[in-house]
Amino acid sequence: MTERIVRGRILTFRDDPRLAGARAWRLIDDGALAIEDGLIAAVGEAREILGRAPKDAAIDDHAGKLVLPGLIDAHIHYPQTRVIGSYGAQLLDWLNKYTFVEEQKFADPAHSAAVARFFLDELFRQGTTTACVYCTVHPASVDAFFAEAERRGARMIAGKALMDRNAPPGLMDTAQSGYDETNALIARWRGRGRLDYAITPRFAVTSTEAQLELSGALAAEHRDAYVQTHLDENFAEITFVKRQFPWAKTYLDVYARYGLLGPRSIFGHCIHLAESEVAALASSGSIAAFCPTSNLFLGSGLFDKQRLDKAGVRVALATDVGGGTSYSMLATAAEGYKVLQMGGQSWPATQAFYQMTLGNARALSLQDRVGAIEPGREADLVVLDSHATPAMAHRMESHEGDLEEELFVLMIMGDDRAVRETYVSGRAAKGG
Ligand code: GUN
Ligand code: ZN
Repeated sequence: MTERIVRGRILTFRDDPRLAGARAWRLIDDGALAIEDGLIAAVGEAREILGRAPKDAAIDDHAGKLVLPGLIDAHIHYPQTRVIGSYGAQLLDWLNKYTFVEEQKFADPAHSAAVARFFLDELFRQGTTTACVYCTVHPASVDAFFAEAERRGARMIAGKALMDRNAPPGLMDTAQSGYDETNALIARWRGRGRLDYAITPRFAVTSTEAQLELSGALAAEHRDAYVQTHLDENFAEITFVKRQFPWAKTYLDVYARYGLLGPRSIFGHCIHLAESEVAALASSGSIAAFCPTSNLFLGSGLFDKQRLDKAGVRVALATDVGGGTSYSMLATAAEGYKVLQMGGQSWPATQAFYQMTLGNARALSLQDRVGAIEPGREADLVVLDSHATPAMAHRMESHEGDLEEELFVLMIMGDDRAVRETYVSGRAAKGG
């Protein structure tokens, strides 16, 4: 039974425009899609889809607006909603001064639940429908997040941070308790609704070798679960890691030794990489998450996308809130563009929109489920208005009908104001 028809200018990617050029996307100017049981049942010209629809089907007409797959954020911290925009520190000081203080509050399940509600409201308001999420060390923070995501029918990946050193006592587990709690959380949540689990050793600074070893054991025991952590973000961090693991030639050696690399492993930042690290990321199929607003805000450095593309490393785009300064994937892409410009690299809007949708879906091995508007995919969508502000409308006046210009305006000037609606599992979700 068709539940809903969404009509608009449907834009979806089938491949990476960097490799496939203009064949990579499909725009249906007066398009429509039919939703059944939370899935996309059909997509095509509006007159065809409407002609076949039952008379009582609800029709959401977004005339003139772009309808895209819901945006995907490959790395974000839900306990940092009150850390975002904290002044004046680089990574390690920022963690100690702001982040580790705030994250201790998530021992309280009621606090976790309230923040999870705010967080998902905010993601949907920004057009993000799937994210790869760090919780805190407290299992209650994971339960709260997954319960809220399940209630909303959202496709989310998340996990409990594993941390057993170099953190306040209220923010530490032990190698064994972290292992046991992760196993229990996986048993409770993995595969339930649209949820999936990420084994989450926070970063090499806050884990002992015993904990990293058990993280590797978890990854081996749960081959389909994800692994997420941080890598080569900041010089002081890298020095710390080298001191803590003197046998390691590189930061990535630490994770490699414990079996934490692979096609379901997402490494946040990946800025200051040695050649051997680039090669190891590529050969293992691991994913580098580009977090431009965070990298600028924390003064971490400039991501080198061209180098990673050339080496065949899989790349994702991410906000990294609260080191990142915006929940908006559009604003994140804008900062990504500027970071790449600083390195003499370009990033056409078609590539950026591919990245926010199908590209990130592929990075998370979710391309059969989300990231495209095709029959059988889950009905997560975002409706974007390239005329959302007076300045955007004014800028668009001389470029009506030019998709690449329009996407670039959305990418560089757009944010939550450009998000007209968000659909999660086929239901309008922007209102919370
Ligand atoms: N490295 C370890 N933890 C974090 C975090 O919460 N944010 C960022 N940006 N880097 C980290
Ligand atoms: Zn992060």
